[in-house]
Amino acid sequence: MAERKDAVECWTGEMSALLAKSPAHVAKVCYEYENVAMLYYITKKGIDQTKRFKLRPDDVYVISYLKAGTTWLQQIAMLVQLEGDLSFFEGKHIITMVPYLEICTLEDKMGYKDKEEIISAPTGAEQADYMPPDTPRILKTHVVPRWLPDGLKDDPQAKVLYIARNPKDTAISYYHFCHLVKALPKYTWDEFFEEFISDRVIYGSWFEHILYWWNLRNHHNVLFLKYEDMKQDPRKAVIQIAEFMGKSLPDDIIDRIVEASSFSFMKSNTSANPDEVLKKSLDLTKEKTFMRKGMVGDWKNYFTEDQNRRFDQLYQEKLAGSGLEFTFA
Ligand code: A3P
Repeated sequence: MAERKDAVECWTGEMSALLAKSPAHVAKVCYEYENVAMLYYITKKGIDQTKRFKLRPDDVYVISYLKAGTTWLQQIAMLVQLEGDLSFFEGKHIITMVPYLEICTLEDKMGYKDKEEIISAPTGAEQADYMPPDTPRILKTHVVPRWLPDGLKDDPQAKVLYIARNPKDTAISYYHFCHLVKALPKYTWDEFFEEFISDRVIYGSWFEHILYWWNLRNHHNVLFLKYEDMKQDPRKAVIQIAEFMGKSLPDDIIDRIVEASSFSFMKSNTSANPDEVLKKSLDLTKEKTFMRKGMVGDWKNYFTEDQNRRFDQLYQEKLAGSGLEFTFA
């Protein structure tokens, strides 16, 4: 309890009504900021800097609710920008090439002993600010819509690649991610399900995130992509992304990008598989790995009949009239 109070004071100065509803082990590693649960190494400072972040007109933003295929999209966007030149990746990693605005860049994000370090570590937003003006930036954020940089809200002033994944597979991937990352809460699946549908997981509501960007899908600076469509036709997705980024690429380069962003390539490539670069923060085993299954429909192995019925009801209520549809198998 002493640790928890310490963390809450340090990050927000408020006690949390939201987290009081979560299992105690969740509240121990999270704090609440403006009614959203956040992990303590995504600090209030990182979020505030994201809100104030200054766009450059040639920026490309990769935005998603977490576990939607963000790293996959980062890989494609970077390869498109580099016109398929994989040699540029040597000795680098896609995660560090694309600053993640709100997070602290500390490599070892393991515990309260790092509290001072976490607060003083540069954020992704600071890292991005230092990028030379003549370097086109690809940047990532997962923040809830109200925390977006002003220049991306409502009428985005730079290109946004948004990836959405069906919420059942997103939830399963997120649940497994919690067991992979040491600092994240160790939910049982039943606990995670209840927290996810109550918008109390870290980063808050899946529905709010998805619907905000879905409503901007026709904006000239927004490309709204679905994970399931990309899985079904990755070549089409790469062409679409290249066109959106203003690149006219020949067939052989498109083919190279499709290959270098495939699940099998990324899993076996140290510049694309996050396991190595994040290894201090991960509890890696043969089964627990960032590039886990990369499939559509794994939720069927976890959702009980009752959970599925409850989720479908919520999904229908929340998405009613939006025109947004997902493939679940
Ligand atoms: P699973 O846990 O279902 O396997 P994010 O990058 O947003 O954290 O998303 C991670 C999810 O995307 C993981 O899903 C991961 O396996 C999947 N993924 C990563 N690269 C992929 C690729 N090239 N093709 C398909 N899925 C990929």
